[in-house]
Amino acid sequence: MIKIGHLLKSMTIWMGGVFMSTEAQNVLQPIPLHIDYNYAKAKLGKRLFFDPKLSDDGTVACVQCHRPDNGADHRSVSIGVRGRKGDTNAQTVFNSVFNFRQMWNGEAKNLKDQVRLPIHNPSEMAMDSSRIVRYLRNDPSYSKRFLTLYHRPATFEDMSDAIAEFEKTLTTPNSRFDRYLRHETTLTPLELRGYKLFKKIGCITCHNGINIGGNSFQKMGLINPYPWRPSNPDLYALTHRENDKNVYKVPSLRNIALTAPYFHDGSVPTLREALRKISYHNLGFLPSDEEIHSLVAFLKTLTGETPKSLHGRRE
Ligand code: HEC
Ligand code: HEC
Repeated sequence: MIKIGHLLKSMTIWMGGVFMSTEAQNVLQPIPLHIDYNYAKAKLGKRLFFDPKLSDDGTVACVQCHRPDNGADHRSVSIGVRGRKGDTNAQTVFNSVFNFRQMWNGEAKNLKDQVRLPIHNPSEMAMDSSRIVRYLRNDPSYSKRFLTLYHRPATFEDMSDAIAEFEKTLTTPNSRFDRYLRHETTLTPLELRGYKLFKKIGCITCHNGINIGGNSFQKMGLINPYPWRPSNPDLYALTHRENDKNVYKVPSLRNIALTAPYFHDGSVPTLREALRKISYHNLGFLPSDEEIHSLVAFLKTLTGETPKSLHGRRE
């Protein structure tokens, strides 16, 4: 098992536009305590995020699939307008601002660019741009806000900008692990064993940085192949290159204890089972029960504070 850890450590991987040695990447960083955003635009973005009228049948807002408790929806696959089922497990919007791209296959280059995807997706909000713009321009309070903040009548682009500004506020700082990194608290011996193991067996080669993931593409099934389905939200869906089958943006492990079920297909209901699967497919071995136990204990220390911007009045 150590062998594969070493193999991964000596690899050079493609990260956000540059090749970097994985050695330099093998660092976990705390979530910043402050992040810059435009308050007025974020406030407008929050209202849009909670507004079901942005969907075809007026019933599905972003928040339906990205709930205030964990930023995702607790389902294997999401359900959109008219009860339509998607193929894909919803990723959390918490801390997504720290991802190098958005979506399982990185289809969107940033949060602003991402907004069009759920809105146009026929199994999610199934709405077209011109209908949305008409709605925002005809609603007196929206139309006033857009004029004030963007100095022109509402556009799809400005709506996306406001939603992205709100999403920047959805960070979860001060997890026990972050406080440990800042020397403000200690971890239990079990949690520390899990953290050491996470580094030793090579989880950290793919899950690192601020989001403990979210900063590179990797194959699911690097060592032992994982079944492939044509409906996968993988890189292959964008490139049609054989090698890109089952390649995904590595998911963030922030708040991972809260975001079951797991994997792009939502096929795994528990964290224990998820760790068994990822170890088998991507490290090539099955950890012992004791090892899984300590890894789970470590991963639970990654749960941070629920974003404050989700509390209080929905404006
Ligand atoms: C019907 C459910 C549904 C609705 C409604 C929905 N989403 Fe999502 N969201 C998903 C699913 C499923 C994914 C994962 C899709 C993928 O990556 O292929 C996702 C992924 C995302 C991501 C990417 C996170 C990451 O880590 O890459 C962001 C950001 C996001 N959604 C924001 C939004 C916003 C903003 C809205 C409203 C405009 C919205 N979503 C509406 C289900 C939904
Ligand atoms: C070679 C890169 C790589 C290694 C090594 C790796 N992972 Fe992952 N991990 C991924 C990818 C890619 C996914 C997404 C797989 C999917 O959805 O099919 C993933 C998914 C996960 C998930 C599910 C996340 C979610 O939101 O559904 C967990 C939990 C996880 N990994 C933990 C670990 C742990 C713990 C280790 C070490 C035992 C590890 N990973 C090793 C790349 C890796």
